[in-house]
Amino acid sequence: MRTRCGLQPHCLGGKWAVGTWRCLDRLNSVISVNSLVPLLQTSGLTKEFQGFRAVNEVDLSINEGTIHALVGPNGAGKTTLFNLLTGFLAPTSGTIRYRGKDITGKAPEQIAHLGIARSFQITSLFDQLTGLEHLELALASPTGLGMRFWRSEGQMGQFRARSLELIDQVGLVHLADKPAGSLAYGQKRALELALALALEPSLLLLDEPTAGMGLEDVNRTIALVKQVAKGRTVVFVDHNMHVVGSLSDQVTVMQQGQILAEGSYEQVRLDENVITAYLGQAHA
Ligand SMILES: Nc1ncnc2c1ncn2[C@@H]1O[C@H](COP(=O)(O)OP(=O)(O)OP(=O)(O)O)[C@@H](O)[C@H]1O
Ligand SMILES: [Mg+2]
Repeated sequence: MRTRCGLQPHCLGGKWAVGTWRCLDRLNSVISVNSLVPLLQTSGLTKEFQGFRAVNEVDLSINEGTIHALVGPNGAGKTTLFNLLTGFLAPTSGTIRYRGKDITGKAPEQIAHLGIARSFQITSLFDQLTGLEHLELALASPTGLGMRFWRSEGQMGQFRARSLELIDQVGLVHLADKPAGSLAYGQKRALELALALALEPSLLLLDEPTAGMGLEDVNRTIALVKQVAKGRTVVFVDHNMHVVGSLSDQVTVMQQGQILAEGSYEQVRLDENVITAYLGQAHA
């Protein structure tokens, strides 16, 4: 007999697990939460700049399929950690594992090839190139075609359809032929997101995707990140607690290169150390 368990709002009625008070639908969801697989793990990850530890013995675990926020005051080491994870900096010590394999010390292009893509804290577009041209170059670059100065229209045309899909995905298809320099700030950030998506990443790292945006763009970006997070894992840095609360399944709080607290947004926002170190500062 199928009976509604009453514990899950979406429960349509399931079989009762013998000897438990939970129906199997509920039990399966509990099992799936408990068996989350770490996609990326760091162990003792450390980066020193002339003896100063910007990232200090960080043990971070990112579960597959989650949206994970990395927060902390200015200078906490968040961007440095992103630079380590993506190979833009080599760690002083410690290890990084991706899908269980050691990727410590790999070059950025090798890491990108494994399915890890990032966006940068500061916009990094070419003003003269259109959105579509940016995407065509990004798609062509793994083939070696993107780097050739004399590219033919025909050769680049093979990337047109996918470029249009990507630019449509971030809501910019109507501006596809406009030079990036003429786009509004929020639109530039959306184009950068499309460029990161061109790599078809399993893990997407976004460094302050809403920095400098007004409320309307912030809310648009929240919706966009939710949409692109389907089927992949996202780690993002943001100072805006509305963004962190709206998006994150898990939050890691950093301070002075170390992990200060971890948990759900509700857990960390009530943590006294976090309030003192970060939220207190933000609302001061
Ligand atoms: N290349 C570098 N050389 C020397 N010091 C550096 C370098 N990069 C970062 N740092 C220092 O490391 C610390 C962490 O910087 P990082 O940029 O990672 O902070 P952050 O958490 O991203 O800050 P913000 O929120 O302001 O972006 C800071 O004190 C910074 O000055
Ligand atoms: Mg930063």
